Amino acid sequence: MNGKRQYGEKDASYLAAGSELGLRTLVDDFFDLMSEDPRYVTILEMHPTDLDTSRDKLARFLCGWLGGPRRYQEKYGPISIPAVHAHLNVGEIERDQWLSCMQQAVSRQPFADDFKVYVLQQLFVPAESVRRRSQRVRAAASDPK
Ligand code: HEM
Repeated sequence: MNGKRQYGEKDASYLAAGSELGLRTLVDDFFDLMSEDPRYVTILEMHPTDLDTSRDKLARFLCGWLGGPRRYQEKYGPISIPAVHAHLNVGEIERDQWLSCMQQAVSRQPFADDFKVYVLQQLFVPAESVRRRSQRVRAAASDPK
């Protein structure tokens, strides 16, 4: 990054994503792709029909997650990403649909190439936590003990 702040430090990632406007554009592209591309039908069908609130929540969450202002908490209160997905059945197929859809959306943005790689690597971490928690909840529910 040639003397600039490293991604992950303070708000470097938030700024690299184009701040709130850049993240809203990313999230709009993400949900537009999810709605249009049949490869993402499984995760689309898990969402409410009206995606406006989903768009607002994910864009606001990503602002804080990338080191910018905590817009999600300002409007919706505290959040735990694995907990808000625990009622959904997320396995590898759903996790990978979500990440592929996000990869396609990221590829449409005017982000620096190294930031595109970085942000997708970082998103794998919460996506995998969502899958693990969801599967643990299901394993516990079907345990005959
Ligand atoms: C692993 C694959 C994932 C799937 C299949 C998935 C799917 C969903 C679905 C279906 C909802 C709507 C839930 C409902 O209204 O009942 C939702 C909400 C949400 N997701 Fe995900 N998600 C995934 C990963 C992620 C990741 C990695 C993040 C953050 C980086 C994220 C952030 C959010 C947020 C902020 C909400 C709104 C929570 C709320 O306030 O209700 N999701 N997700």
